[in-house]
Amino acid sequence: MFRLLSRTLFFLGLANLALGVKREDFKTCAQSSFCQRNRQLAKEAASNSSPYSVIANTLQFQDSVFKADILNQKNNVKFALQVFFLENNAVRIRINEKAAIKPRYDEAKNHVLVKEPTLKSPKTLTGKENQGQEFSISYSDGLYTAKIHFSPFKIDFSSEAGPILTLNERGLFNFEHFRTKVEPKEGEAPSEEGLWEESFKGFTDPKKNGPSSISVDVSFHNFAHVYGIPEHASQLSLKTTAGEAHQYDEPYRLYNLDVFEYEVDNPMALYGSIPFMVAHRKGSSAGVFWLNSAEMWVDVAKDNKGSHTHWIAESGLADIFVFLGQEPKSVLKQYGDLTGFTALPPAFSLGYHQCRWNYNDQEDVKGVDAKFDEFDIPYDVIWLDIEHTDGKRYFTWDQNKFTNPIEMQKNLAIKGRKLVNIVDPHIKRDDSYYVYKEATQKGYFVKDPSGNDFDGWCWPGSSSWVDYTLPEACKWWASLFKLDKYAGSTEALYVWNDMNEPSVFNGPEITMQKDRVHHGGWEHRDLHNMYGFLFHRSTADGLVQRLDINRRPFVLSRAFFPGTQRVSAIWTGDNTATWEHLKISSPMLLSISLAGVSFSGADVGGFFGNPEPELLTRWYQAGAFQPFFRGHAHIDSKRREPWLFGEPYTSQIRTAIRNRYHLLPYWYTLFFQNSFDGVSPMRPMFVEFPEDELCFGMDAQYMVGSGLLVSPVTEAGVTETKVYLPESAIWYNYFSLAPIPSGWQTVPSPADTIPVFLKGGSILPKRNRIRRSYALMMNDPITLLVALDSKGHASGHLYLDDGDTYAYLQDNFAYRHLTFNGAQLTNSAVERNNFDVVNPLAFSPKLPAKLTPSEFEDSLKSVRVEQIIIVGIKKAPAKVICTKCGREIDFKFIPELNQLIIKDPKLNAVQDWTLELQ
Ligand code: GLC
Repeated sequence: MFRLLSRTLFFLGLANLALGVKREDFKTCAQSSFCQRNRQLAKEAASNSSPYSVIANTLQFQDSVFKADILNQKNNVKFALQVFFLENNAVRIRINEKAAIKPRYDEAKNHVLVKEPTLKSPKTLTGKENQGQEFSISYSDGLYTAKIHFSPFKIDFSSEAGPILTLNERGLFNFEHFRTKVEPKEGEAPSEEGLWEESFKGFTDPKKNGPSSISVDVSFHNFAHVYGIPEHASQLSLKTTAGEAHQYDEPYRLYNLDVFEYEVDNPMALYGSIPFMVAHRKGSSAGVFWLNSAEMWVDVAKDNKGSHTHWIAESGLADIFVFLGQEPKSVLKQYGDLTGFTALPPAFSLGYHQCRWNYNDQEDVKGVDAKFDEFDIPYDVIWLDIEHTDGKRYFTWDQNKFTNPIEMQKNLAIKGRKLVNIVDPHIKRDDSYYVYKEATQKGYFVKDPSGNDFDGWCWPGSSSWVDYTLPEACKWWASLFKLDKYAGSTEALYVWNDMNEPSVFNGPEITMQKDRVHHGGWEHRDLHNMYGFLFHRSTADGLVQRLDINRRPFVLSRAFFPGTQRVSAIWTGDNTATWEHLKISSPMLLSISLAGVSFSGADVGGFFGNPEPELLTRWYQAGAFQPFFRGHAHIDSKRREPWLFGEPYTSQIRTAIRNRYHLLPYWYTLFFQNSFDGVSPMRPMFVEFPEDELCFGMDAQYMVGSGLLVSPVTEAGVTETKVYLPESAIWYNYFSLAPIPSGWQTVPSPADTIPVFLKGGSILPKRNRIRRSYALMMNDPITLLVALDSKGHASGHLYLDDGDTYAYLQDNFAYRHLTFNGAQLTNSAVERNNFDVVNPLAFSPKLPAKLTPSEFEDSLKSVRVEQIIIVGIKKAPAKVICTKCGREIDFKFIPELNQLIIKDPKLNAVQDWTLELQ
């Protein structure tokens, strides 16, 4: 209810009465009976040993799967354990009840995994039993061993160098089997509190299945840092929530929630949930992923033996993947192989997005659009929030304000720009609204326990929610985006899916009751964290399929789950216009990116409140170096388009946005690589410098690709910033190209710049000419920035395609390798067998006619290399020769800067060539 009150106060302009998160609207672990029970168990565990043991005579090891029964000696309940050794060296551990009285939820895997994981060839595994006590399996070419201990049950993972991680080391494995409720006889005490019913703030959750939780402990040996399990407004390296001198009292919670005015430095649940944790130390990385879509809590404790985590899920199965590698990138690749990689976004969506709640009408849109041109600021997308609709009926327009939406989109499209409209999942219960009528007639809504369509409250008032676990409902939803169905839409319209946790204003914790019913009779409890992803995916499928030649979708979602990366972008929801929210944006995005969802951003400027111009400018500078780049603001905030604060701010913001556009060829190339290697463009320092311990706890600075180090300014009045430039490389200032010593450095960071450094050894593609939108820059020439390492070498990549369709799936792309070896700069195609091209969709998209390699090259013939800047070069060459054409090329050498500038070498960016420095 408070949520409603807060929202109402905002509408009444009484925002200051509603400031701050209302913690009491959300459960603590003690208020959630399953969390409480398992946490209690953890407290007692030191004195009790685990009651679970493997029944030795049930084990089988066959066809790369280890199977055995597990017995809970306390109650004689049996469980089936299966350990699968997968082709990509991941290990999957599944535990389910052996004779459950009814099935437990196991559907999440059908949506999350790209396919049934392939097993490793049995020939590559060796398994042996040791005296009826344990069974060891050596895998990954003998690099790793999984040892299953029988009594008590636990699984150790180790390499020759020693132990890596253990499941159930602390004996916290606990599997609450389904049981029949025994009503207490008269005079008897009722069954344990919370097992069959629990209440929170006037809401009662009747649990028809009774207790159903599972908890597992995972110890990461000698790992001081564990990361991941987003989404939390907290630092990247997870803080301790248990054990001595813990930093948070509550566990990290994973439960998709719409948290009004969330606080920073807090383990409370937010909009998205990814139960994937990464651990890293020198020489060894590990990942654990629990494929489970129910509410989860994770405790983290640390001591001198490593990090000890305790995972508690409300229902479902234990379906846990373990990934081991020598460095983080290998773990990220293994996770991506299973859950999918970030889909290659349409190129325009990497540009700048201008949003606010709300651009009021067509004139407003026209005016804002014109101002960008007047102030010479590029942007690609303007957004319309909920007020553009007829009474929050999505897919409709307020016809008084938007009299001709098609013309509006055409006017944007002339400049290569797009429109994004919001389409939320709550459907207004109004018989005259076609979306509601069709879904009602077809029976597509989530039901309440009595079988009626669930009725909850959101922006439009009384609403219902489509059940996206029903395949026909997804197809129908996707069909609503057809151009002839969505009146007033054109190809230039893309979509924003908000409130999809789902947010239900009058529900417990502002979401859907856990006993609401989905297709197959499953409770919402079992799949809550996945709901938003399924909605997001159906929307994106609709955008893909609305045209005969399918185009890549752009759909922004607030909720997310493993698999979201295959769909499109997410953002970190309703942040606030404060310095601390700017500061937390990097750690949050690093953690989300590390968990696979790379196309993510935070509202630039902060959603609630009014940023002072310095904060807004700093936020633009940071946002320009984060993957999804959108300015957004609450309806009650003052207008804050980039030109409104006057000089010097307008120019500073212009520079920040233009810097983004200069680097879009680099970002696009990184997203292409991410689409098959699982390494996000924005990445933690430790991912690029896995041997440098100083990097392990860092999140105020980060890498964009392996070439750029970014350290956003996140404090007021700052003109200097302390950065750490890892010693293993040499560095240059990205803007001035001046060399800078490595190690800790205090660098100037005046108001008009953000500290960004170029790693020696990198080649970055850029575009010098900025036009009104990126769509208009796609055929423009490329500049190569070549930054030499200490040996005078450098390398990098450039990826180009049509930016829009799936033609790249039929190899209509250019993926170039650029190398400089001290004497020769070479542009060659990356050999096709060195990388995959992955279709992110669950179906085969319709492709444009396939171009032959020469036709494709021809389509990019205007993409010249117009300039090459080599920095860190000690002496001037006598000549620069293009070896293929025998031409001598003009150049300029600037000795005081150690720079060689080659102007217009008349070479194409996608053809093979070599320039020789003689
Ligand atoms: C939610 C979104 C916010 C949006 C608002 C109105 O609060 O997080 O971005 O502007 O709803 O749709």
